[in-house]
Amino acid sequence: MKSRFLPAVLLPALVDARDAAAHYARQATTSAAATNTEVIGSGTAAASSAFPTTLTFSLASENPTAIPLSEINTGTAQTQSTIALSTYYAGGATQTYVPNAPGLPSALPAPSNYPALDVTPPTNSTEVQQWIQDVMNSGVDIPDIPVTNPGACSNNTAAVANATQNCWWTCGGCTRDTDITTCPTKDSWGVSYDDGPSPYTPNLLQYFAQQDLRATFFTIGSRLLERPAMLQDEFMTGNQIAVHTWSHPYMTTKTNEEVIAELGWTKKLIKDTIGVTPVYWRPPYGDIDDRVRAISTAMNLIPIIWTRISATQTFDTNDWSIPGGTTNVYQVLDNWEMIMGNSTQIDTGFIVLEHDLFEQTVDVATGYILPQALAHQPKYNMTPIIECLDMPLANGYLETNDNASHTLPLGTVRGGDPYRLFLVCGRRVEHG
Ligand SMILES: *[C@@H]1O[C@H](CO)[C@@H](O)[C@H](O)[C@H]1NC(C)=O
Ligand SMILES: *[C@@H]1O[C@H](CO)[C@@H](O)[C@H](O)[C@H]1NC(C)=O
Ligand SMILES: *[C@@H]1O[C@H](CO)[C@@H](O)[C@H](O)[C@H]1NC(C)=O
Ligand SMILES: *[C@@H]1O[C@H](CO)[C@@H](O)[C@H](O)[C@H]1NC(C)=O
Ligand SMILES: *[C@@H]1O[C@H](CO)[C@@H](O)[C@H](O)[C@H]1NC(C)=O
Repeated sequence: MKSRFLPAVLLPALVDARDAAAHYARQATTSAAATNTEVIGSGTAAASSAFPTTLTFSLASENPTAIPLSEINTGTAQTQSTIALSTYYAGGATQTYVPNAPGLPSALPAPSNYPALDVTPPTNSTEVQQWIQDVMNSGVDIPDIPVTNPGACSNNTAAVANATQNCWWTCGGCTRDTDITTCPTKDSWGVSYDDGPSPYTPNLLQYFAQQDLRATFFTIGSRLLERPAMLQDEFMTGNQIAVHTWSHPYMTTKTNEEVIAELGWTKKLIKDTIGVTPVYWRPPYGDIDDRVRAISTAMNLIPIIWTRISATQTFDTNDWSIPGGTTNVYQVLDNWEMIMGNSTQIDTGFIVLEHDLFEQTVDVATGYILPQALAHQPKYNMTPIIECLDMPLANGYLETNDNASHTLPLGTVRGGDPYRLFLVCGRRVEHG
């Protein structure tokens, strides 16, 4: 078990640097707190001097062992050491959070049985060909929407013109009723972390254990294949596991077959690691349109984005731009202050974008954001997203889902009405 874990200890700097480079190569506009930073523009990143070097508010609370703000580096690696995972589980281990889940698989997945890391998996494998057949046989009509160009809104004049009819979130923030973007109950925060597991995930899990917190982890297949025991620990300690694709692409740039490969392999690897198959996913960068939505529906996956109350107020901390050098920790905490302020103004609860991929993003979460949230008045009810939707964790997985009260996307298609409504909104009213 330990030797399997060696790569996780030796490779993270390399892998995460590559991951960060991949992110930032495609991410340019991150300059203002109020901008939706997952809307990608062209142009160069603002100099870090454009960002504040002090907070515009007083910290109500912080973790006594927090890394000082002045030591959370912009654009360079941190030097803090990682901690070991608290628990390694044996095959067959069971848990109380999802009582009807089977025990953990007897062995961790062998990397040789999965695609290469950090690229869209080939579409000609036996597995992907089968998933393509499954999608074709699902009864879901996949709208004939062209793939978008790399470069998002600024490089997609035609698709931007069609963004409303195709409900392309990236350029305009369009969502369908089938997307989860908020928690229904005021002051409930469906907590989530994206892009892990990373070498810093155990630091976050340690803080969760200390504070009795749990969250939804939107995991990347390529990261999970490096650190499967971390995923098991997340799962066994009551966190919700969800899909965040194999290689973190803009999904609307991918063909139908590539979208299926990205989602299918991540679903399979999660099932092979924890024994159950997630039914929720988050599109990287929020990049979803009606084509990608329909494919995910056909694969029994429900999209979750983060709360967006207007074109300029998105619940995105922009934490991931600290290591990329395009924002700093003071700006991120100012963003968080805006989110908390906005949370008291809206009628619903909320979902925030944060990451467990980088040391800085975990340091800012455990040192500042989570302690502030725990001290917030009125008190936030902080849970995994599935629980803020008033459902048990078991409904987050295909095998343990209570089909009587929570209809899975494919069940909905076969049942008819809700999905047909979605199709009407999505302009494809014909349905075979
Ligand atoms: C898939 O395509 C690649 C590149 O064309 C090829 O090298 C590989 O052998 C193919 N795999 C299968 C299973 O057909
Ligand atoms: C814009 O799209 C074209 C066509 O797909 C592509 O070749 C080009 O690299 C894209 N530009 C950027 C900046 O992504
Ligand atoms: C935009 O919509 C029009 C009308 O439906 C269609 O003909 C065109 O191909 C679409 N273009 C893109 C890039 O989606
Ligand atoms: C959200 O916060 C911003 C910054 O404090 C503020 O300008 C805006 O009015 C708030 N919006 C709502 C709906 O509370
Ligand atoms: C719900 O239905 C799925 C098939 O769609 C099945 O695999 C699963 O076992 C069912 N859930 C329960 C709790 O029976």
